[in-house]
Amino acid sequence: MFITFEGIEGCGKSTQVKLLGEELRLRGYGVTLTREPGGCPIADKIRAILLDADNTAMTPLTELLLYAAARSQHLHDKVRPALESGEIVICDRFTDATLAYQGAGRSLDQALIRQLNDLATCGLAPDLTILMDCPVEIGLERALSRIGATQGAKEERFELESLQFHEAVRNGYLLLAGNEPKRFALQDATGPIPQIAEQIAAIVTARLGAR
Ligand code: TMP
Repeated sequence: MFITFEGIEGCGKSTQVKLLGEELRLRGYGVTLTREPGGCPIADKIRAILLDADNTAMTPLTELLLYAAARSQHLHDKVRPALESGEIVICDRFTDATLAYQGAGRSLDQALIRQLNDLATCGLAPDLTILMDCPVEIGLERALSRIGATQGAKEERFELESLQFHEAVRNGYLLLAGNEPKRFALQDATGPIPQIAEQIAAIVTARLGAR
C-alpha cells in the first residue's frame, strides 16, 4: 500500500507520517517512511538545490524539472523496491505537491505537470492520500516558529513566499481532493496531534481492511 501525505507548510504532516509509521510497525507491518523531494542520496542533493533560499533566480520550469528528476530517482531507488517487497510506503509529499505548488502556486500548465508526473512515476499513483488541511496563517506560524526553535535552521525558498502563494497552494490541494474523493482523505490539521493521529490511524485501518 502506498500512502502519501500532503498539505501546506506547517500543516503537521511530517509529525503524522512518523506517528502513523510507528503505529503500523507496532501492528506488525513492514513500513518504509520517505519524503519528497529527497528520500535517496541523489534526490537529497536535488532537494538541497530546490530549497536553498539563495537560489532566487531559479525559474518555475527549472524548479518543475528538478522535482520530476528527484522523483524519478526516488521511485527507482526507494519507493518501488519497498512496494515490491510488500512494505507499506508512507511518503511525505508526492505528485500532488507538484500540482499544488508548481501548478496552483506558480501557475505552470497542469497538463504539462501531469505529463511529467507520469514520466517520473511511470504511472504509479498513491492508494491513499491524506490531505492535512489548515488555514495558511496557522501553518506558516507553526513553520516559522519551528525554524525559530531549531538551532541552525533558516527559512527555505517556499517559506519565504507570500501569503497569496500559500493560499493558492491550499486551494489547489482542496481542488485536487474534491476531484478525487476516493483517493483523498481530507484531514482537519488544526486539532491536537494525538487526536489527529487517531483519526488518521482509523482511516488507514479502514483502507487496509478493505484490501
Ligand atoms: P517539505 O517542507 O514538506 O519537506 O517540502 C519541501 C518543499 O518543497 C515544500 O515547500 C513544498 C515543496 N514542493 C514542491 O513545491 N513541489 C513538489 O513536487 C514537492 C514534492 C515539494
